[in-house]
Amino acid sequence: MSNQTEPIRVLFVCLGNICRSPLAEFIVRQRAIERGFSDRFHFESAGTGDWHIGNGADRRMHQTAAGHDIDLGPHRASQITRNRIDQWDWFIAMDRANYNDLLSLGAKKERTLLMRQFENEDRPPDVPDPYYGGEQGFEEVFQLLSENADSLLDHLNRMHD
Ligand code: 4NP
Repeated sequence: MSNQTEPIRVLFVCLGNICRSPLAEFIVRQRAIERGFSDRFHFESAGTGDWHIGNGADRRMHQTAAGHDIDLGPHRASQITRNRIDQWDWFIAMDRANYNDLLSLGAKKERTLLMRQFENEDRPPDVPDPYYGGEQGFEEVFQLLSENADSLLDHLNRMHD
């Protein structure tokens, strides 16, 4: 657990770590920079699966991100494993499967959030996996992440007042 002088460590988690969680990491970091408190946080992302370890983001996710002035170039995929769970203060799961997988790996429930859990709308709380779908799915992921970035940051800030 971080004390007040260390950045709050936040890990965004999806399945492959080449589509949703890298974009979430980059969008939320950018939003924290714009709002002037990025020094409070350390953001990374990881997948529950191991297929893409070391790879860059999916080409379609790169293109969608670039269309919104976000460069995913520096991203390299990694996997979250049981022995790395203690390194994080917060886990932000993209969907309910990722959430349950994190709990199975030993993540504490009170430290594991769903990316869309702060939405008021009566909609499913998942950021849909765009990997096997068309281009439109990647833009939808961007919109959902962008819409939820501020409420996630507000929550994390409140939890560390
Ligand atoms: P992500 O998308 O979880 O948003 O990174 C996926 C990427 C790869 C695979 C599944 C989902 N895959 O099966 O390889």
